[in-house]
Amino acid sequence: MVHVDLPINKTAEEPLYRQIIRLVRERIVEGSWVPGERLPGSRELADTLGISRISVVNAYAELREEGLIVGQAGRGTFVTGPNGLTNDPRALPSVAANPIAHVTQRHPPNVIAFSGGAPAEEFLPVSLIRQAYNAVLDRDGADALLYEETEGYLPLRQAIAEYSRTTGINCRAEHVLITGGCQQALDMAVQALLSEGDALITTNPTYLGILDLARVRRVQVFGIPMDEDGIKIDALQEALIHHRARAIYIAPTYHNPTGTVMSIHRRRRLLQVAADFGVPVLEDGVYHELGFAGTPPPPLKALDSEGIVLHTNGFSKIVLPGTRIGYVIGEGPVWERIMRVKRAADICTPTLNQRAMHYFLQTGALSGHLDRVRKIIRERRDSMIRSLQRHMPEGTRWSTPTGGMYLWVELPHNGPTVAELYNNAIKQGVTFAMGPMFHTDGGGGYFMRLNFAAQAPDKIEEGVRRLRAAWHGLSAQNSGVVLRDTEHIL
Ligand SMILES: Cc1ncc(COP(=O)(O)O)c(C=O)c1O
Repeated sequence: MVHVDLPINKTAEEPLYRQIIRLVRERIVEGSWVPGERLPGSRELADTLGISRISVVNAYAELREEGLIVGQAGRGTFVTGPNGLTNDPRALPSVAANPIAHVTQRHPPNVIAFSGGAPAEEFLPVSLIRQAYNAVLDRDGADALLYEETEGYLPLRQAIAEYSRTTGINCRAEHVLITGGCQQALDMAVQALLSEGDALITTNPTYLGILDLARVRRVQVFGIPMDEDGIKIDALQEALIHHRARAIYIAPTYHNPTGTVMSIHRRRRLLQVAADFGVPVLEDGVYHELGFAGTPPPPLKALDSEGIVLHTNGFSKIVLPGTRIGYVIGEGPVWERIMRVKRAADICTPTLNQRAMHYFLQTGALSGHLDRVRKIIRERRDSMIRSLQRHMPEGTRWSTPTGGMYLWVELPHNGPTVAELYNNAIKQGVTFAMGPMFHTDGGGGYFMRLNFAAQAPDKIEEGVRRLRAAWHGLSAQNSGVVLRDTEHIL
């Protein structure tokens, strides 16, 4: 049963049922109420809050509509999972309740998941990784099982510094801290740069992991609109004037979720503006190596003459996510703070994983592996675009990314929103990441992010067909909406 902590204000102008909706939604989105937990019955909640039952009944009805809760005959009302498939709210975690679950969630085999943030399983170099772990244990014995220095395994830091210099980042091993994935690198940087209540600026939309992090670190987020060249500089300046921001989080290359690559000109402007305002830039370069059509501009850190950029990166997207090896490159006064935060968080990143990753890099297998992955994901991007052209309703639009793993798709505004579509899509056996999760202002109601890298072309085709069926099911009632006729187009 959920812990009921809903501070209702009976004298506020906002109607009581709206307050309940808002507060329940908040509890679910922040993760205090988790999928499968039972909510009190409407009479019980009304009694607890000292309000009329009808307000609770209305609120529950709307929350059910939104897909945040689900009623089970004879059992009660639960925080929902996308339960259309299983009929059991505890069977799957709810993406609405736990946005990061989109990245990490594993789905039953009959579900075609376009929602995830992981590379396809067939890309993971299992036998090379097995060899790496065995070789490290043979070579280092118990040494590979002890604590590592907080900064990380020196040879790995040296290898990362060497690689980073090839992208134009001027650094040495002492500027590299190994972290538990890029996500922890971001967390360490956020903790070192910002205190509770401080302002963090980012793009709108942005990586949902940074929004998740800001929520738990109680940092305020301000989202700045973007165009095809990246963050809009005028709007950024405006925000910097008004908000006394402590950091600007930017993923300049193959931005998640839009796939945008920030132009070199925009990169320079951004750094200039950040330097003028004295605000550090937190760069996320995790997709930098996943370009499959042309070479992107250098990372912001490579253009950073003032030492204001902290560069975060990792191996999840290019080798494997489960080893959790990421890093942050930086310097200056903040560097000592980051090191302290890391030490306090977990002492060090697991020794064996660091050494195995280093061993893998040393074998030289990475570049061949990456060439293969880039070729395949480019084919998959093309495949998904063809499927969207064939199946999605007229008025659907999408990005054509030159790298990364995602298509950013906008549905026609005369049909269902993505939130309306989601449960129907689950019933059809397909998932996607909902646009509003990436937005700082609740926008993105007609946008969805589709991971094209994670599925083979036949699955992509079938998944997009299912999306069409889900959309069709909802918009059938909605006259005036024109569906593309697949056969006709073929
Ligand atoms: C933009 C971005 N940054 C960071 C991460 C987290 O990466 P890691 O798995 O290395 O923690 C992701 C994962 O989806 C991402 O999309």
